[in-house]
Amino acid sequence: MSETIQVSPLTTITGELAVPGDKSISHRAAILAGLSNGSCFVENFLSSEDCVNTLRAMAQLGVRYEVRKGSDDLPVDLLIHGCGGELQAPGRELDCGNSGTGMRLLAGVLAAQNFDSTLIGDESLSGRPMGRIITPLAQMGARFETKGAKPGCAPLQITGGELKPITYEMPMASAQVKSAILLAGLFAPGTTTVIQPATNRDHTERLLNSFGVKVKTEGNTISIDGGQVVEARDLVVPGDISSAAFWIVAAASAPGSRLTITNVGLNPTRTALLDVLIRMGAQIEVHLEHEDGGEPRGRIEITGGRLQGTEILKEEVPNLIDEVPILAVAGALADGKMTIRNAAELRVKETDRIETTTKNLRLMGGEVEEFEDGMIITGGRTLKGAGLDSYGDHRIAMAFAIAGLLAGEGQTTIANTACVATSYPTFAEHLETFCQS
Ligand code: S3P
Repeated sequence: MSETIQVSPLTTITGELAVPGDKSISHRAAILAGLSNGSCFVENFLSSEDCVNTLRAMAQLGVRYEVRKGSDDLPVDLLIHGCGGELQAPGRELDCGNSGTGMRLLAGVLAAQNFDSTLIGDESLSGRPMGRIITPLAQMGARFETKGAKPGCAPLQITGGELKPITYEMPMASAQVKSAILLAGLFAPGTTTVIQPATNRDHTERLLNSFGVKVKTEGNTISIDGGQVVEARDLVVPGDISSAAFWIVAAASAPGSRLTITNVGLNPTRTALLDVLIRMGAQIEVHLEHEDGGEPRGRIEITGGRLQGTEILKEEVPNLIDEVPILAVAGALADGKMTIRNAAELRVKETDRIETTTKNLRLMGGEVEEFEDGMIITGGRTLKGAGLDSYGDHRIAMAFAIAGLLAGEGQTTIANTACVATSYPTFAEHLETFCQS
């Protein structure tokens, strides 16, 4: 992981941009289309390492697919031939690379299969907690062994089989845990119910419904009846608002900027970033255009200005969890204080994002107080270019590339940026376009 990103300050971010397909939706599209009873044309699939790993895992489990646009390594439009719920034992370990979503969702499916399987991942993923999915899936009847150097971590050996439905109260607001249980519940006779402590991304529920599987949501209680058929359907994946977030913050924080993001996912469980920025004084217009697969999408128009710090509300945290590093950058540039608490989940992401965000902001001259569950940033300081590290975390790499663009002076160099390919393979290209315009 040796690539670096180098950026110099820019005064404005102007233009129009479509970001690549949504990561969460692409993982789920690969899994649901693969389980479906026919062929599904999936367009604008995120051709990032994370999603390609999930697609390849489904192929190892017997799902065939053809790339219609893009390449084998970077598939964009795909025809996925569903296996009608009949997966085959994989010949070898399934490699999820860097992706917690890939590993946890696949574990839900594999828990219900009448064969054994092993999920592996890279060094970062092999240090992330799997106990959170093992507890409910073991209650359903699957058996797990974690073989990692750290207790409770991957490699994850799964002995699947016939499952029984459960009602499970999740201790954390995690869409990955919820999705693992719902996907296992799809194979268990009877009703499986998940109760979540707070709203979080609901792509699994929306996509299951659009693939003909009825999922009932009443407040924070979500139920699925097992044995339903996953009906084949076509899907266009919307742009990923978590990737758009970098440019949205950049344009919103730089007076004189005017940016339009087109064809971006606007699922309300993903748009808390926009609410926070608007509360900070950002000029943002959202235009809903249409829905596909139950997922709304449209256009976001941003006009740059001076922002004011704010407090991120507890209930907003799960709906902007991936955007915290870039929001912290917005907070450092804004006037006043930005408070981010109730976000301890950030400590178990691709890196400990409270630590990596704090370290990098301080290196740029930002004032940050670190807490176990978040940080308070005192804004209004001019950030200075610095030599930073992504620590192998894609969102840290991109958030600090934007911090470098918005710095008042000096060049910023970020080491270890090959990880950007896990979620936004064309980031460097888009960065270059803004730097040249
Ligand atoms: C995701 C859920 C979130 C998020 C991750 C993608 C998903 O993780 O941080 O990037 O696609 O379900 P948690 O479920 O751990 O909160």
